[in-house]
Amino acid sequence: MNNRDELRRQISEAIRTYCEAEHNFDFSASDPIVRLHEPTFSAEEIDAALDCLLTTRVTMGQKVKTFEAAFSASGPFGPGVMVNSGSSANLLAIAALTNPEARDALRPGDEVIVPALSWSTTVWPLIQLGLVPVVVDIDPATLNIDPNEIEAAITEKTRGVMIVHVYGNPCDLEAILDICDRHSLILVEDCCEALGAKYEDKAVGSFGRMGTFSFYFSHHITTLEGGITVAQTQEDAELMRILRAHGWIREVEDQKPWIERYPEIHPRFLFVNLGYNLRATELQGAMGSVQLPKLPSYVEARRQNAEKLASQLQANAPLLQTQSTTPQGEHSWFGFPITLGIDAPFSVDDIMTALGDVGIETRPIICGNIARQPGLKLYPHRAQGDLSHASAVMERGFSFGNHQDIDHAARDHILGAIEAFLADKGVLSA
Ligand SMILES: Cc1ncc(COP(=O)(O)O)c(C=O)c1O
Repeated sequence: MNNRDELRRQISEAIRTYCEAEHNFDFSASDPIVRLHEPTFSAEEIDAALDCLLTTRVTMGQKVKTFEAAFSASGPFGPGVMVNSGSSANLLAIAALTNPEARDALRPGDEVIVPALSWSTTVWPLIQLGLVPVVVDIDPATLNIDPNEIEAAITEKTRGVMIVHVYGNPCDLEAILDICDRHSLILVEDCCEALGAKYEDKAVGSFGRMGTFSFYFSHHITTLEGGITVAQTQEDAELMRILRAHGWIREVEDQKPWIERYPEIHPRFLFVNLGYNLRATELQGAMGSVQLPKLPSYVEARRQNAEKLASQLQANAPLLQTQSTTPQGEHSWFGFPITLGIDAPFSVDDIMTALGDVGIETRPIICGNIARQPGLKLYPHRAQGDLSHASAVMERGFSFGNHQDIDHAARDHILGAIEAFLADKGVLSA
């Protein structure tokens, strides 16, 4: 072994030793903290990322391509275009769909239906690209967009539907696809919370014209920041590769048609469209490839945990309403959301504070009712109905962590804390 290889081996060894000593995310009864998420990565991913730094091959290249191919195969999905966040994945999808080069491109002023319970950057790209979001209510049981509300919101201006599989719960895709089919609407799936979720045994993200995923630190797998947009066609993916980086043809798979179309411009610096810089780095691609094979075990841990929590908490329904999995769906449980019943004799802040006092982190459920957020009010949009179910989630909803490291003891700690709180309020059901 030459000196460089020996040094590299020592570095790997040191990383492993460090992580074995420091990375213990198991629940400890003596210091009972249940975080919203714990890292999904350790020595292997750090080593893979560090390799990019050590070799100085850091900008988007083969490692991102390798990850894109592995991700596409994993769904399976159509071609994937990796970007620097889930928000960028949404931006890229909408930028492609509104681009003059796109098939059946959306036009400024076209309406796109979105669920009221969504994330900010599910909706913002629509506005940023001149579309008009039409906000519709959710089904309070699944927390997902209500297909009846989609149907009711359709006008002659409606051209698309952007759905969110809330917390990893697949939407009612049968009904949604039927509506899109009957009204010739383009479907985009925001799966940023739903990696690993399936509908009728098929990965979410593979139903719409495009699907988007996030690999932010707290998600099912991570590249620290990162995301990917998957498309049904190579044509849409090629357009996204152009828009991802400067409007340049450099990263398209087949440059020939572009070079032939513009023979007067030097092919190395041919800019055929507008564009952003949404590229991922090689470090992110390398981490993603190490993380991806671990996804099934992480999702299984989340699923088993959620099933046990849901069955234990059932005794206190309808005071505590847990999320119902969509029939035909396999949930991937990004977290564990609960909505308090309307008659609860305490507020959501009361229960969040009580859980926080015993080390259990909580948070509101995504953006609540997005139509109530000041950011949306600044721009043209439309709301269908009173959005009361999304408002109920905003006013009475919270969630706690349901990550891969929550075990039996952590679960008991959460359940015990909830029971103690309900008993204190005099409303505990046996
Ligand atoms: C539904 C949804 N869409 C988009 C995003 C944005 O992803 P990112 O944080 O990677 O930008 C999130 C973030 O969690 C999300 O929950």
